[in-house]
Amino acid sequence: MTRLILAVETSCDETAAAVVADGREIRASVVASQVDLHAHFGGVVPELAGRAHLARIVPVVAEALGAAGLGSAAAPPVAAVAATAGPGLIGALLVGVSFAKALAMAWGVPYVGVNHLEGHLYASLLEDPEIRLPAVVVLVSGGHSLIVEMTGPRAYAVLGETVDDAAGEAFDKVARFLGLGYPGGPAIEKAAARGDPTAIAFPRPMLRDGLDLSFSGLKTAVVHYVRAHPDVSGADVAASFQAAVVEILVEKALRAAVVSRARSVCLAGGVAANGPLRAAIRRAADGAGLGAYLPSLAMCTDNAAMIAAAAHFNLVGDGPSALDAGAEPGLAFPGARVR
Ligand code: KG4
Ligand code: ZN
Repeated sequence: MTRLILAVETSCDETAAAVVADGREIRASVVASQVDLHAHFGGVVPELAGRAHLARIVPVVAEALGAAGLGSAAAPPVAAVAATAGPGLIGALLVGVSFAKALAMAWGVPYVGVNHLEGHLYASLLEDPEIRLPAVVVLVSGGHSLIVEMTGPRAYAVLGETVDDAAGEAFDKVARFLGLGYPGGPAIEKAAARGDPTAIAFPRPMLRDGLDLSFSGLKTAVVHYVRAHPDVSGADVAASFQAAVVEILVEKALRAAVVSRARSVCLAGGVAANGPLRAAIRRAADGAGLGAYLPSLAMCTDNAAMIAAAAHFNLVGDGPSALDAGAEPGLAFPGARVR
């Protein structure tokens, strides 16, 4: 029998709801972005995010249920309700968690709290069920950067992680410094398209040093360079910075694939939407005889379909979460560090 799961995602600045069948088939996925709300402030304002989630969660869930053809069901229309339980902004997380628990209680179905980072891993699996495993997943978002070995649903190990800033955070900070606005990733990518990626030789911290990542020194190098060369072209700075991040991520992905004898490389998280990164990972994977799985742009950034997919496998494996389980802003990734 098909198991439908309704999931909501409110960990940061997208209010999202989705219905997914058996953790594999997306029946509906709705994302209401708050970018316009926060752009004015140059970053996410937690208090505003929480309030906006509260205002939007009901219409967003109603739209997802309607799009999945479940709008007027008399019986509980899904087998479980899931929400992102962490990591994220506490006020934002609580909206989704409280809403999902209330709905699960009212419908008499299980509630499943999902780790946001684990959710990101399912984006590739959702779109490419034939993925060749084991896979190295480069999970690069605004708050986290991890290199994960995935041998199947719920089977992950951490091969490397950032020792300072997340990759997305570096994009956001450099964009803010260059006056390119928020969110920084797309702004840098756009500016970089007009620049020369070889114009400035920015450092590639820890490039050949294990599988951990570091972006803070690169960000500082950009700041120092621009202060010392105030007339430099912003497009060249953006392109050269982006080239450094791409080279670091590609190098680490390939090294991780060798170490873990992976058969494919996947990207996940908001930074995975970056065009030059996608092209470089594909080229490198092809060259190394590895499969490359790159989620669609909508599946890279925050959405609830990936949360519903993770919820499905966790419900099957562990059963429901307790109804008194809370939201955890600092929830750690559920895989152990292996190297
Ligand atoms: O996964 P995500 O949507 O939210 C978090 O869980 O953090 O990732 C957001 C991050 C932001 O730092 C944003 O600047 C970055 O992903 N991002 C990009 C691009 N689109 C979003 N970074 C580089 N290039 C992009 N095209
Ligand atoms: Zn995310």
